[in-house]
Amino acid sequence: MSEVATRYPGLTRIVFSETEIRARVAQLGREIDAFYRLDEKLLMIGLLKGAFVFLSDLARAMSRPSVTVDFLVAALYGEGTDPSREVRLLYDMETPIEGRHVLLVEDIVDSGKTLNRICDELSRRAPRSLEICTFLHKRLASDLRYEPRWVGFDAPPDWLVGYGLDLGERYRHLPFVAAIAPGAERGF
Ligand code: IMP
Ligand code: MG
Repeated sequence: MSEVATRYPGLTRIVFSETEIRARVAQLGREIDAFYRLDEKLLMIGLLKGAFVFLSDLARAMSRPSVTVDFLVAALYGEGTDPSREVRLLYDMETPIEGRHVLLVEDIVDSGKTLNRICDELSRRAPRSLEICTFLHKRLASDLRYEPRWVGFDAPPDWLVGYGLDLGERYRHLPFVAAIAPGAERGF
């Protein structure tokens, strides 16, 4: 049994280590910094709860003078692959985004429903630009209408936890990303 499986019930293996994540986030910070002019003000919008760890590291990986941060809370309702699953905005920010450079920060893209719904909403508010940075991308979404410009890592199709990602609210605090053992969901 791996060390991670012994300490954390339900986990099988580490998928992205703390060291790998740190290096990749530093690189993303440099790439994003280089994409915008240095005098452009950047508004980072994190999708809670999952993006809270990634956003806090990513914001500190940028060295531009003007970065502001806000958050949205979205949740996906319904079961599994049910096509009627619906994304609801549970908390909206007060910050107006019209005319601003917006960077949406997401933890993971799976079906793509969340991104489609949230980006439609943000686009309606007429930002100057809207880009997406996701920490993980499962590359499974068939009708993703907004492709992230920056992706931390392509992810395996397993259910992943850690670095903000949860299984029934557990394991968001892990500094690495790990895969859940098949069937472990039922034990929580
Ligand atoms: P989508 O709308 O299906 O793309 O799902 C996006 C949301 O589902 C993400 O923001 C996560 O909160 C959650 N999610 C999807 N896959 C995983 C996973 O493997 N682990 C933890 N959360 C996930
Ligand atoms: Mg989630």
